[in-house]
Amino acid sequence: MTILATGCAGFIGSNFVHTWLEQTDEPIVNVDKLTYAGNLSNLKTVMNDARHTFVHADLANREVMDELLKVHRPRAIINFAAESHVDRSIHSPIEFLQTNILGTFHLLEAARDYRSTLQTEEASAFRFLHVSTDEVYGSLSPSEPGFDELHRYEPNSPYSASKASSDHLVRAWHHTYGLPTLTTNCSNNYGPFHFPEKLIPLVIHNALSLKPLPIYGDGQQIRDWLYVKDHCEAIMTVLSKGTPGEVYNIGGNQEKTNLEVVKTICAKLDALRPKTNGGSYAEQITFVKDRAGHDRRYAIDASKIKSTLGWTPKEDFASGIEKTIAWYLDHPEWVESVVSGAYKDWVQTQYSERTGS
Ligand code: NAD
Ligand code: TYD
Repeated sequence: MTILATGCAGFIGSNFVHTWLEQTDEPIVNVDKLTYAGNLSNLKTVMNDARHTFVHADLANREVMDELLKVHRPRAIINFAAESHVDRSIHSPIEFLQTNILGTFHLLEAARDYRSTLQTEEASAFRFLHVSTDEVYGSLSPSEPGFDELHRYEPNSPYSASKASSDHLVRAWHHTYGLPTLTTNCSNNYGPFHFPEKLIPLVIHNALSLKPLPIYGDGQQIRDWLYVKDHCEAIMTVLSKGTPGEVYNIGGNQEKTNLEVVKTICAKLDALRPKTNGGSYAEQITFVKDRAGHDRRYAIDASKIKSTLGWTPKEDFASGIEKTIAWYLDHPEWVESVVSGAYKDWVQTQYSERTGS
């Protein structure tokens, strides 16, 4: 048996490949377009592992996808591939529509055609697991309960609108064509191999480089942080035990304001890598202009996956951030290689507009 997964040179996908190969001998075919966010060095230790096959391709390329499905005959497809950064979606939404909406459409069609070639038993065991986000549900007020699977969709950014569209396509392909789909909507992930355009790795990197730590607006926005390895295990659980057509929300139950997150990182770094001048990294905190349409609060009610499939996260924020900071301190070469690439141009565009606000 084999599975095929898209977007596994990125943050969550590469962690998934490592988790998968630690826990099973089943081969995994990894299809990734290698956008700015795709980084093969995330997969360095498994590039020569016979169980992992990397294919450089766009998930929207039907010819390539059809051929891969025909040759590898996977029992499941997991769709991680996406444009994933909200700030980029505000500057340039078109790539988000292309990959997140059209790309998912092409992958669904490839899966549907491929499944029609399978014997009855294989066809009914086949799964299409779509990895999505809590951002499709919009923003919560401080007192509202976390998002459950029945919460209405209210996406607010081009990114979340494109992910919401892809979720609807997945739902429709199940209802209309009987494709055995599973959809997971998870909260903010953090951990190893996280691209330093996102809050946590950006703050770790900027702190150590003695650069400003940019906090958008008042820093009181809340995210529900989930350690990436817990997310990967949740996906494995949904793949093996989930009911086709169902949606599972995955969260860490660890709500923190952005300012709390940044201050926690600074305090940990003060202890682990004290500044030579004796000051605190927190002195580098800089409030900058807010993100347009910035969602105030996300939180997940993960009771369905807990009660029906038995998954709960192993890490809380305190233990997860400890592991994450340790990983970044141990892998300065990974951060440097990323920062010296296209990321540099992006940082320039992104923060030159915010300076002095
Ligand atoms: P990422 O940006 O780090 O990685 C995305 C990967 O997809 C990259 O390797 C990129 O090269 C690849 N890719 C992009 N377009 C492609 C295409 N057209 N064809 C093939 N590959 C393509 O993203 P991530 O943080 O790892 O997120 C993975 C998935 O999880 C996404 O679907 C995202 O929406 C979802 N998600 C992420 C978070 C989070 O906190 N990071 C939270 C909830 C949901
Ligand atoms: P991010 O990591 O971009 O994830 P998302 O927007 O998908 O939640 O941002 C997490 C939070 O941190 C979000 O509220 C925006 C905020 N943020 C900052 O305050 N400063 C920054 O430099 C970045 C990248 C994010």
